[in-house]
Amino acid sequence: MIQKITFGSPFPTEAVVVPVEEGSLSRFTLRETEHGRLFSCPLAKTDAVYGLGETMRGINKRGGRYVSFNTDDMRHRADMPSLYGSHNFIIVDGTEPFGAFFDTPTCVTFEIDYRKSGKLDVLCEQDVTLYLIDGESAYDVTRQFLQIIGQSFIPPLWAFGYGQSRWGYKTKKDYDGVVAGYRKAQIPLDYICMDIDYMDRYIDFTLNPKHFADLKEYARQMKEQGVRLVPIIDAGVKIEPGNETYEEGVKNGYFCVNEDGNPFSAAVWPGMTHFPDFPQPKAREWFGNEYHKLTELGIEGFWNDMNEPAIFHSEYSSSADYAKDKKFRESDYKRFFHTVDGKRIRHYDVHNLYGYMMTRAASEQLDKLLDKRFLLFSRSSYVGSHRYGGIWTGDNRSCWAHLRQIVYQLPSLNMCGILYTGSDTGGFSGNTTRELLIRWLAVSAFTPLMRNHSMIATRRQECYRFSDVQEFKQIIDFRYRFLPYLYSEYVKCALRRDMLFKPLAFVYGEKAKHIEDQLLVGDSVMMTPILEKGKTTRTVFLPEEMTMVRYDGSFHCATVPEGTMEISVPLDEIVFFIRKGKLVPVGKGGNNTSEIDLSDVTLLGDGTEYEQYLDDGFTKQCTLDDVRVLKK
Ligand code: GLC
Repeated sequence: MIQKITFGSPFPTEAVVVPVEEGSLSRFTLRETEHGRLFSCPLAKTDAVYGLGETMRGINKRGGRYVSFNTDDMRHRADMPSLYGSHNFIIVDGTEPFGAFFDTPTCVTFEIDYRKSGKLDVLCEQDVTLYLIDGESAYDVTRQFLQIIGQSFIPPLWAFGYGQSRWGYKTKKDYDGVVAGYRKAQIPLDYICMDIDYMDRYIDFTLNPKHFADLKEYARQMKEQGVRLVPIIDAGVKIEPGNETYEEGVKNGYFCVNEDGNPFSAAVWPGMTHFPDFPQPKAREWFGNEYHKLTELGIEGFWNDMNEPAIFHSEYSSSADYAKDKKFRESDYKRFFHTVDGKRIRHYDVHNLYGYMMTRAASEQLDKLLDKRFLLFSRSSYVGSHRYGGIWTGDNRSCWAHLRQIVYQLPSLNMCGILYTGSDTGGFSGNTTRELLIRWLAVSAFTPLMRNHSMIATRRQECYRFSDVQEFKQIIDFRYRFLPYLYSEYVKCALRRDMLFKPLAFVYGEKAKHIEDQLLVGDSVMMTPILEKGKTTRTVFLPEEMTMVRYDGSFHCATVPEGTMEISVPLDEIVFFIRKGKLVPVGKGGNNTSEIDLSDVTLLGDGTEYEQYLDDGFTKQCTLDDVRVLKK
């Protein structure tokens, strides 16, 4: 059962898309404080607390303090309160499981048994609509929530392929080298992301005149080889006479403004920029339509970045101020405004919606510009973003802790609707190692977005640059053979409003509550990755009898009993498990997704039937009519 209670007049976020009955406050007590409304409820010692999407720490959020305030910060330490997205849905899993979604677009602080307080405290700085959900289990509560926030974005099949990216690719030679490197190593590749250097001086919707003046022809040649180009689009539009996007935006009042009504200026990659007023519907339509400058050149996928929005410094504060104290950024967020329905809205008051509205701007227009499904993922997000695109988890580091973090983030993001997601495989900043990259690939082999991305001036981490490239090939080959299952499960989850990645506790309850480094992937699979340096074995908890599958170039299956077992996982192998009575279709693989035949599969596991979602991989209308039953 779901009820909503409105406190004050919150800004409409459009996170929830179906009508919900009005109710009255239960579960929480409410206290008005000088910092906002404080909702509190007691937590029993054994209650687990889930949700909160893209936050740090484990799957069970107990013991932590989390602040929803979208932030561009590379230091993904365990105690970092804020990352790039805000997903204020939380689930208390105890004797009477319930969920609460605090729908408010600015700062919310969650303290969950913080310093052993024995309570859940949620401080909402501003007006809020609270959705309360009662259910039979944490999983049931989550599925009810997924029903009210609408269907997740479904990208084309090629977006489930392997992608290479790096900040620092500048010329065609760089991109050609990537294709040649992967081809020579016979490692599949579906797309290459184009970071900011493809543009003319980082100006959105322009092309570097020296290297990419003929992007249309180049994109065509790449596609002929089965590789798509996926350019980045940043939120800030460079202030420069002659820059069409800038001129049109100024003329039509499509940028965020200062108190005096003039466009607000802040520095990002291109230098001083204006920020599109994404909460304004007309500005969204205009900015989204600008993507036609690239779709006309044959581009079918984009990543949206710097959309918290990130600010290096502004017309009010210098970069030295910014480096000193992040309070300067918050002050700037208070200094500029959106114009919605003729009313001025202070940016700070709707801050967490900015990336969401940018994704929406792009998605709604790409849907009009293209006759096929497209790839779109963003850095910043809010609940509701999942209907328009995916996200990647931002600027992580090449370290084992950040590999482990994505395993925690996957189910938490899925609880908030975000299905299309993944991390910078190998790590963004810092220098990766061969071992870390292979183990990271073995995790990303299960995530919808499987992209190797790294920062300029770090160690090059394209797979073909390492010794014994065969080991990398085997892991990525596995991904392509696993695609018939992954793609089918993904689309079914989107259509049925389900999670792709579930904590074991969501299915096996109490006995699996302590397990955080194994995940259920779709309806049949349990993944059990190696997340530690130097390890080639790990302990696996088996909540029931399962089929153990080892991939070493081919699939080997064995039935294993309930309990715990030690498995060995050499660097070039993948070991996963299939739940009792379930099946997993695997295919023959290919050099890219266009070579994959999703219908030519072998069924692994001891089940009797598998429901496979099957389509051409790009058709816009996905429906459950395209589910066929495979029998073993
Ligand atoms: C931001 C992005 C990163 C990108 C860089 C340059 O840091 O998060 O992925 O490579 O900007 O565009």
